[in-house]
Amino acid sequence: MTGAGRVHNFGAGPAVLPLEVVNEVAEALPDLMGSGFGLLEVSHRSDVFQNVIDSAEERVRRVLSVPDDYHVLFLQGGASTQFYMTALNILGDGGKADFLVTGGWSQKAVKEAGRIGDAKVAWDGSAEGFKSVPDNGDYNIRSDADYLHYTSNNTLFGTQFHHLPDSEGKPLVVDASSDICGTSLDIPSHDLVYAGAQKNLGPSGVTLVILSPWAMSRIGEGLPTMLDYKTHVSKGSMFNTPNTFGIFVLDRVMAWVERNGGIEGAIERNRAKASLLYRELDRTAFWVPHADSGSRSLMNVTWRLADESLEPVFLDESAAAGLGGLKGHRSVGGIRASMYNGCPIESVEELVSFMKGFESRHGQ
Ligand SMILES: Cc1ncc(COP(=O)(O)O)c(C=O)c1O
Repeated sequence: MTGAGRVHNFGAGPAVLPLEVVNEVAEALPDLMGSGFGLLEVSHRSDVFQNVIDSAEERVRRVLSVPDDYHVLFLQGGASTQFYMTALNILGDGGKADFLVTGGWSQKAVKEAGRIGDAKVAWDGSAEGFKSVPDNGDYNIRSDADYLHYTSNNTLFGTQFHHLPDSEGKPLVVDASSDICGTSLDIPSHDLVYAGAQKNLGPSGVTLVILSPWAMSRIGEGLPTMLDYKTHVSKGSMFNTPNTFGIFVLDRVMAWVERNGGIEGAIERNRAKASLLYRELDRTAFWVPHADSGSRSLMNVTWRLADESLEPVFLDESAAAGLGGLKGHRSVGGIRASMYNGCPIESVEELVSFMKGFESRHGQ
């Protein structure tokens, strides 16, 4: 497959995957790795699939430098299930958790944790339109909090932590759905990491969960079977039928990352893409970037047009020019370009060139 006819895909997730990976998936559809079983038809109890899931776990461990005593799980239900499941497992009765609320996803996380225990907002950026993430020192953690939860990259508003939030010595829990493997994330500094795969890791339907020994030690007895991390740890993510397709694709994406300079290579490419686009946004007042400069996301870049009435025109013309997925999230409006690992720099170059042309056609 040449990729001819594919748009430059800036969708926020599911998102563009490297064409090499898409081709590998296509090849595996009728026959997974010479087994004679098609990728969509193979049993999760087969040796060939056991090799796939083992490989996926090993690659995740290598690429993300996961400590040996941490567990790696491939679950279903999306990051949205993790909002509740994390709290169910590690907050427990009478527990307290503090949250840095930097956008819609962290709002959901704190709401779901509140069903389990005492979930408190330690910092809330809603009043200023979620334009930034907090600096260390902008918030206080309760001295008796059990952990601090944050969202490393705010997919909707285009902000990102470029530092490790100070948790005042408390365990850190992170929703890293939209920047895992695209930015540096120090796993050993966290006790629980979760991420939907559909941005940097693969297709939708797989959720990566990484658990420290501390997180495991917090889990009580009698939790609903499927919501108990112990169930999935004890069965190698195969207590029930896992998303075999998604795990295969995730393994192939991780192999692609490894072939292309590992996490450092991914970060370098993501920095280059983001700086190209932010340079254009800063060039002219025709564009109004949303995020404050110190909090700008490398993964999701959000902006308005100074003349908002031109936004539908921008979206129509960009789509006609083969640039897809640029509509801002419905809660924010405007334009959003998501540039995960699978997005090549050529797509961003095309976008920037389109933007310059658009300004010259529609600007004063
Ligand atoms: C940061 C973040 N958290 C959570 C979610 C929800 O993920 P899911 O749709 O996998 O439940 C998303 C989805 O875009 C996200 O970007």
